[in-house]
Amino acid sequence: MSRAVRALIERLGERRPRVALVLGSGLGALVDAVEAPLRIPYAEIPGFPVSAVSGHADEIVAGRLAGVEVLILSGRIHYYESGDAAAMRPMLEALKAVGVEILVLTNAAGSVNAAIAPGEVMLIDDHINFSGRNPLISEPSDARFTGMTTAYDAALRETLAAAAADVGETLHRGVYMWFSGPSFETPAEIRMARVLGADAVGMSTVPETILARFLGLRVVAASVVTNYGAGMTGDELSHTETKDVAPRGGAKLARILAAALPEIAT
Ligand code: HPA
Repeated sequence: MSRAVRALIERLGERRPRVALVLGSGLGALVDAVEAPLRIPYAEIPGFPVSAVSGHADEIVAGRLAGVEVLILSGRIHYYESGDAAAMRPMLEALKAVGVEILVLTNAAGSVNAAIAPGEVMLIDDHINFSGRNPLISEPSDARFTGMTTAYDAALRETLAAAAADVGETLHRGVYMWFSGPSFETPAEIRMARVLGADAVGMSTVPETILARFLGLRVVAASVVTNYGAGMTGDELSHTETKDVAPRGGAKLARILAAALPEIAT
C-alpha cells in the first residue's frame, strides 16, 4: 500500500465513499453543501500534487452530499502547471485504492457554441484531446491501450440529464476539447474548435478522464461555461472572469449534482 493510500485511509477512518468529485476553478462552493465535512489538505497526503492556481482550495473534503457519502477533491493540478499530463495519477490511484468507483469531474470552460452562454452548464458527452499529450505515455502495461469509446458513462450521463430536468435547470450537452493552456485560445483556434466538433474548450478534465478509465473508474463530467471563446465577443479573456462567473454556473451544477447523487450512488 502506498504512503498516500495509507495516509488517506488513516484520515478517512471508517468512511469509504464510492463517489468522488473533482471541482474546477471557482467551483469550490459545492463544498459548502457537504454535511459533517472532514477537511484534509492535499499537503498532508504524501504525493498529492498541490495546485498553485488561484481559485483552487487544494483540499479533500469527505462528508455527505444529498445523503450520499462523497469525497470531494477541491482543486486539481493541471497539465500546464508542470508539463506532466499524468500529474493527477497519484490522486486518482489513491481514490481507486480506497474504494472509489465513480468519478464526477467538473471544470470551468469557454463556450464555442453560441447556444451555450456563460453561466450555463454543459454535460460532457465526449471529448477531443487537442493537446497532443496523453497521461498514459510511458505506462508500460498493455492497460495503456485504454478504450475511450464509452469514456463518459452513458447511464451516469442520463442520470444527470434526468436530475437536471427534475430540478428545472438547463443542462446542455456537448463535446469538450482539451487545449493545454495556460494561455487562452486565439479566435482562429476557437473557429477551428467549432469546425472540428467542439462545443466547449478548456484546460483540464481530459487527462483525468483518460487516467480514470485506465484505472477502471466510471466517469461523468460537466463544464460550467464562464465565457464565450476568444473572438466570439469583443472582450479579452481572463482568469479573473473565470473565477467570477464560475460560481453562477457552479450553483446550477450543485443543484443538478445534489439531485443526481442518490441515483448515481445506487
Ligand atoms: N478557454 C480555455 N479554458 C477556459 C476558458 C476558455 O475560454 N474559460 C475557462 N476555462
